[in-house]
Amino acid sequence: MRQAGRSLFVTLEGGEGGGKSTQARRLTETLRGRGLDVELTREPGGSPAAEALRPLLLTGDAARWSPQAETLLMYAGRDDHLNAVIRPALARGAIVICDRFADSTEAYQGAAGGMPPEFIGVLRKAVVGATEPDLTLIFDLPPEEGLRRAGLRGGEARFESKGIAYHRRLRAAFLDIARRDAARCVVIDATLDPDTVFRTALAAIDAKLGA
Ligand code: TMP
Repeated sequence: MRQAGRSLFVTLEGGEGGGKSTQARRLTETLRGRGLDVELTREPGGSPAAEALRPLLLTGDAARWSPQAETLLMYAGRDDHLNAVIRPALARGAIVICDRFADSTEAYQGAAGGMPPEFIGVLRKAVVGATEPDLTLIFDLPPEEGLRRAGLRGGEARFESKGIAYHRRLRAAFLDIARRDAARCVVIDATLDPDTVFRTALAAIDAKLGA
C-alpha cells in the first residue's frame, strides 16, 4: 500500500466530449473516500489569475487569437496555476488531478493549430520544468462523436467551432503523444460506457500509487 503523503500528479487529456471532467470528479471523490488528500483542478484556469484568463480563451470568435497568442496565454495561465496551486499541493504530498495540462497546448496550438513544436517545447521546459505529470490519461474517441457529445453539453464553444479537420489532427496528436511517452500515458477508449472508463482510469492511478 502507498505511503501517506507521497504526491502524484495526474493529468486528463483528449479532444472534445470525452467525458474527462465527469471522470475527474468521480476519481477525486473515490480517492478522497479512501482518506487521501486530492487537489482537483483544471486548465485553462485552476488559480484565480488563470481563471480570469479562461473566458478570454474560450469564448468569442474562433480566430480571436492567433495560435501564437493562444499559446502564450495558455502558458501565462499555466505558470500561475503551477506556482499557486499545483506545486504547493504536490509539496504537501497531495494527489493532483488536473483536467487538461501541457499536452493540450501541444495538441491544440501545436499539431492542430500549427505552432512549431520547438516554440512550445521551450515554454514547456521553462514553465513546467520538473513538474511534469507522473500519469496522463488520454480519453480517446472519434472527433465526430466527441463534437456531438460536446454540442449536447453546451457551454464554451470556441474550440469546438474550429472544424472537423482540426479535431482529426487533435486526435492524432494525442495518440502520438501517448506513443512517444508510453511510460507516462495511458490511452482510454472513451466510447465505452462511463463505468468501464472509470474503472480503467482508477486502475491506471492505482498502478502508479502502488509503484
Ligand atoms: P475543456 O472543454 O476540457 O474545459 O477545455 C477547454 C478548451 O481549451 C478545450 O477546447 C481545449 C482548449 N485548450 C487549449 O486549446 N490549449 C490548452 O493548453 C488547454 C489547457 C486547453
